[in-house]
Amino acid sequence: MKLATRLQLIKPSPTLMVTVQVAALRRQGIEVIDFGAGEPDFDTPEHIKEGAITALKQGKTKYTPVGGTAELKEAIIAKLQRENGFTYSMQEVTSNCGGKHTLFNAFHALFEAGDEVLIPAPYWVSYSDMVILTGATPKLLPTSEQTGFKITAAQLQSAIGPHSKALLLNSPSNPTGAAYTEAELKELADVIEKSNLFVISDDVYEKFLYDSPRCPHLLTLKPHLRDRVLIANSVSKTYAMTGWRLGYAAGPKELISAIETIQSQSTSNPTSIAQAAAVVALTGTQEPVGVMAKEFAKRRNYVVDRLRAMPGITCTLPEGAFYVFPRVSSYFGAKWQDKTITSAMDLSLYLLQESKVALVAGEGFGSTDHVRISYATSMKNLEQGLNQIEAGLKKLLPL
Ligand SMILES: Cc1ncc(COP(=O)(O)O)c(C=O)c1O
Repeated sequence: MKLATRLQLIKPSPTLMVTVQVAALRRQGIEVIDFGAGEPDFDTPEHIKEGAITALKQGKTKYTPVGGTAELKEAIIAKLQRENGFTYSMQEVTSNCGGKHTLFNAFHALFEAGDEVLIPAPYWVSYSDMVILTGATPKLLPTSEQTGFKITAAQLQSAIGPHSKALLLNSPSNPTGAAYTEAELKELADVIEKSNLFVISDDVYEKFLYDSPRCPHLLTLKPHLRDRVLIANSVSKTYAMTGWRLGYAAGPKELISAIETIQSQSTSNPTSIAQAAAVVALTGTQEPVGVMAKEFAKRRNYVVDRLRAMPGITCTLPEGAFYVFPRVSSYFGAKWQDKTITSAMDLSLYLLQESKVALVAGEGFGSTDHVRISYATSMKNLEQGLNQIEAGLKKLLPL
């Protein structure tokens, strides 16, 4: 069979591949601790599940408008007003089958061959491949520990060229957990304001920020940029609803309408039951979100302390999300069996086989020197998994 040529340009999501590897080892009866998961280990809160059950019983099992029910759009508008202070109308919001789908639709609505999309790196695995699928070109803006994995205003300024169409902002970030302070964001906003860039603000981790009460937002700093910004969000991480597949967006009417046109010719509406559950999530008590955030903060501190105590590992303190992104490059050159470890991919394979801990190699996020550890797992698992990593790394010493 001859598949379409564009398939040769992309690869399967490496984070989902780790899940597959873990499942395969577990099927062989091998105990593996999974630090790969990009989803909260908490269950979907009970009142949200009840909302879905009620919807089912009420027969809300039919097609809905493509971009979601009026109730859901109203709930999204109310959320953005209440929590972010942003005012949007019914024509300026839409819902999709997960935040990933929101971005996929938006990219297809906005980008085409000849466009360049600026992506701060390390970046979430899907950004670059999704951009490539539209025919546009991702332009990576590399960052490192020196700037806390954040781009600087000067870097952004010098990256903007005649074909630069958009910038992807993801704060707090997957995979680094880095989040811009208001002052840092203001500097970027000044550059954005003077450019023609469209900005996609991927806010899926906005609720998981640990050292500051509120996540700064580009549109709070520059409300007049509203016609040049798409807010992409999702109930997946905030409400432990990854399996429900419900993402949403707010932005200029024209773009929202284009997203809905693309959706009308592909998936149609997101699942009606998931929409009803999302209404409950967005309008109901926010207490479970606070409980999760508090627990994640505790785990972040524990994981960072443990990693920093391991020889050869350096680890920045992430401001948010539920990932740490330690540098492991000092282990490159270490010998394992008849092999030499030369990359984050090699080290993560070693840790999977030797320590029975699954984590995601940095390569998929645009870094060969780091691995991503998700702390969206219990303290017990974290303690045990970190013990196993420590023991595994010790076997590679002296470096
Ligand atoms: C940065 C970022 N954006 C968007 C998503 C999409 O999440 P979902 O499709 O589950 O809403 C993810 C999920 O891992 C993510 O990490």
